[in-house]
Amino acid sequence: MAILSPSLLAADFSCLGPSVKKIYEAGAAYLHLDVMDGAFVPNISFGPCVIKAIRPLTDAVFDVHLMIDKPERYIDEFIDSGADLLTIHYEATTAPADVLASIRKKGIKACIAIKPSTPIAVLDNLLPLVDMVLIMTVEPGFGGQKLIPETIDKIAALHKRRKALGLSFLIEADGGITLSNTHTLSSAGVDVLVAGSAIFGAEHPETAVQAMLSAAK
Ligand code: DX5
Ligand code: ZN
Repeated sequence: MAILSPSLLAADFSCLGPSVKKIYEAGAAYLHLDVMDGAFVPNISFGPCVIKAIRPLTDAVFDVHLMIDKPERYIDEFIDSGADLLTIHYEATTAPADVLASIRKKGIKACIAIKPSTPIAVLDNLLPLVDMVLIMTVEPGFGGQKLIPETIDKIAALHKRRKALGLSFLIEADGGITLSNTHTLSSAGVDVLVAGSAIFGAEHPETAVQAMLSAAK
């Protein structure tokens, strides 16, 4: 059964509290928090202060996606702000294994993300060190893009690799996920579906959450 992780990036920033409560009550167990630094990606979003402010408003698992250069500089701040899963990009650091180990050492889940053009083979040595792998299904930086179909093959290959290695990390897909591709993605092996515009852009986000969860079964 897939987990839904609505991306806050697509929410109305003037009323985050009620939006966050509504989608959790509708069944979205995770909340996806996209942190962008204007350097690793050409966009700036929000940082640990915002995450800390919404932490008391929901019991959702905080799924923090760091799209920032040298994430090792800010690990402590994001753990203190309330992250349960902390995802760094493979392309953003020269020592991913060390950063992942330091995240795990602090008692939260350590996760790695790759861009659409990065092959899953680069992750081979890291797979035993992670709790989740995030496959970007669009170029990181902006919500509201179309899913790149080739990324579904990467998900299927990673799913196969996980089985062959006997590992149990989660597979998350992020970007361009809508009701119409939810089933394909969960069949390819996705455990955690991130959706921003498809949920917060819908007239009734709670209904969109329920529809996506049913389609993912
Ligand atoms: C893109 C972000 C995504 C994005 C998803 O860089 O990592 O999480 O918010 O938004 P949608 O679902 O609108 O593609
Ligand atoms: Zn994201």
